Amino acid sequence: MSILVCGGAGYIGSHTCVELLAAGYDIVVADNYYNSCPEAVRRVKEISGKDFRFVEVDLTDAEKVEQLFAQNPDIDSVIQFAAYKAVGESVGKPIEYYTNNLATTLTVLAAMRRHGVNNLVFSSSATVYGDPEKVPIDENCRVGGTTNPYGTSKLMNEMMLTDCCKAYPEMNVALLRYFNPIGAHKSGLIGEDPNGIPNNLVPYIAKVAVGALEKVHVFGNDYPTPDGTGVRDYIHVVDLAKGHVAAIKKLEQKPGLFICNLGTGKGYSVLDVIKAYEKACGKTLPYVIDPRRPGDIATVYADPTKAKNELGWQAQYGIEEMCADSWKWQSMNPNGYKG
Ligand code: UD1
Repeated sequence: MSILVCGGAGYIGSHTCVELLAAGYDIVVADNYYNSCPEAVRRVKEISGKDFRFVEVDLTDAEKVEQLFAQNPDIDSVIQFAAYKAVGESVGKPIEYYTNNLATTLTVLAAMRRHGVNNLVFSSSATVYGDPEKVPIDENCRVGGTTNPYGTSKLMNEMMLTDCCKAYPEMNVALLRYFNPIGAHKSGLIGEDPNGIPNNLVPYIAKVAVGALEKVHVFGNDYPTPDGTGVRDYIHVVDLAKGHVAAIKKLEQKPGLFICNLGTGKGYSVLDVIKAYEKACGKTLPYVIDPRRPGDIATVYADPTKAKNELGWQAQYGIEEMCADSWKWQSMNPNGYKG
């Protein structure tokens, strides 16, 4: 039996492959390297000391996806990470984002149906809560009010998968709503490698720390938060990866539709993160206060109770380790996988 990891060469996918292999699962990784590279896959093998099947495939290509399932009949579960993920870019490219982010899931789902594969873990996001009705956010909070095609595509995927669970009672689907994944594997061999200038806070700080960018731009210090800067629930990517292993085990108990937040339950401000990163890299990091970024929300953090009670999963790492591991990856790989 094996797990198909769609988008397994990417940031969260590669860390999840490491944890699945460590837990003794066989995996088949499928990726088209749109936003990743073969070196990441090679390093997953190096870290784990294990080999696995890799298929280079665009998961919107129905014929190729059919072949993938036909040639790997031991696949009994799927983790679906394959998607475009740049929030800002999605606003200018809605057709590309909706086409890709819906078609990957639909194509894989159709092949799963044909091959009697019933278990799927979906990579969703806390972005589905829009401007949350309360914090901490629990899974009963209403979803909707997403502000960009990326976020809306996650919500649409959730709706599609919810309908599939209604139509096909034998299906088991875990919708995992991630908060803000950061950090990297302890080895420093795999980590986040964004194209161009990073949009997200920690990859941006990492580039300032390594000297590739001049200063951090703090987007607003007039939010109703303790220091005026935005507060988020940052979660170590290795903890997040372990949450997927827990979700795979949960699906083995045939729960039908299972929706779960993956966060730590703690919020840190932009300035808290800069301070923690300064400690990790041993340098003072210059920053300026800029205007708010449109669409940003003051405070977002999870209520992680359901994950603890129903997945038996809890985040282990704090902000210090997240920053230390991000810095290890960044300093060992100043240009990411490009050397
Ligand atoms: C964003 C997306 C979310 C996506 C997640 C991971 C939005 C509204 N949300 O979350 O859908 O799942 O990324 O890709 O875009 N900040 C700065 N300076 C920077 C960058 C960010 O001050 O250069 C601040 C932001 O204002 C925010 C915090 O840092 O308060 C975190 O921002 P970011 O890392 O971009 O994540 P989110 O916006 O929370």
